[in-house]
Amino acid sequence: MLFSQYLFQDGKPFKTTIRNYNESDFDQLIDIQKECFPPPFPSDLWWKKSQLVNHVQIFSDGAICAEVDGELAGSITTLIVNNHGEDHTWEEVTDNGSIGTHDPNGNVLYVVDISVRPKYRKSGIGKLLMQSIYQLVVHLQLEAVLGGSRMPGYKKVKHIMSPQNYIDGIITGEHDDPVVSFLMKAGRSPIKLLPNYLEDPESADFGVLMEWKNPFLRKSNIFSEN
Ligand SMILES: CC(C)(COP(=O)(O)OP(=O)(O)OC[C@H]1O[C@@H](n2cnc3c(N)ncnc32)[C@H](O)[C@@H]1OP(=O)(O)O)[C@@H](O)C(=O)NCCC(=O)NCCS
Repeated sequence: MLFSQYLFQDGKPFKTTIRNYNESDFDQLIDIQKECFPPPFPSDLWWKKSQLVNHVQIFSDGAICAEVDGELAGSITTLIVNNHGEDHTWEEVTDNGSIGTHDPNGNVLYVVDISVRPKYRKSGIGKLLMQSIYQLVVHLQLEAVLGGSRMPGYKKVKHIMSPQNYIDGIITGEHDDPVVSFLMKAGRSPIKLLPNYLEDPESADFGVLMEWKNPFLRKSNIFSEN
């Protein structure tokens, strides 16, 4: 995958290139993880080089980054799995981020991670990375994108609200969440809570399974009806 387009920050256009990442990008990808997942997120979940090697060797089409003026601004990493709605954890479905579970004959493009460096946020890079994997799903004729979203805003309200009420409140617009709301704005729909999805204190270890369905494949029977 390779394309460039203009995005805008503070009304000023800048060119962003979307491309597959490779070995020469590994140091920057690890820096991005450190910036994007500070404590209390467990540092042992940041990318290790061995995982990145697997991403580019096992499914290079699904290893995508955004570059601005020669610097990596963000990345998204995916694999293909067979999933028809079963509950799962991040560790199980992604082989703990090493994508040994990649199945070229699967039906779903599954998001392992998306992250954008803080200084580039809110300028559309996350959305563009998400669009790039929608293009990949259409190109590969898969049924859907799935992935468990963090819900880091939950920590602040968990003493007064159940996780389901928290998600319902995001959907009805009573409050927002830094990741779930971003994903909704980028086209993904919340499907269900996944308890013990990932060690993530801010999300009380919950994930929210979120889908995007390939509009060109109507045979899909994953989760939602539309
Ligand atoms: C989540 C993340 C990838 C968003 O990246 P980004 O480049 O800032 O997102 P975009 O600029 O494309 O935002 C797209 C839309 O989401 C909105 N959005 C972005 N961050 C948001 C937030 N914190 N709260 C509410 N909405 C948000 C934007 O305002 C924009 O809305 P619009 O379409 O109405 O203009 C980035 O904040 C990040 O890397 N977070 C830390 C890592 C992480 O938790 N990743 C998720 C793993 S599941």
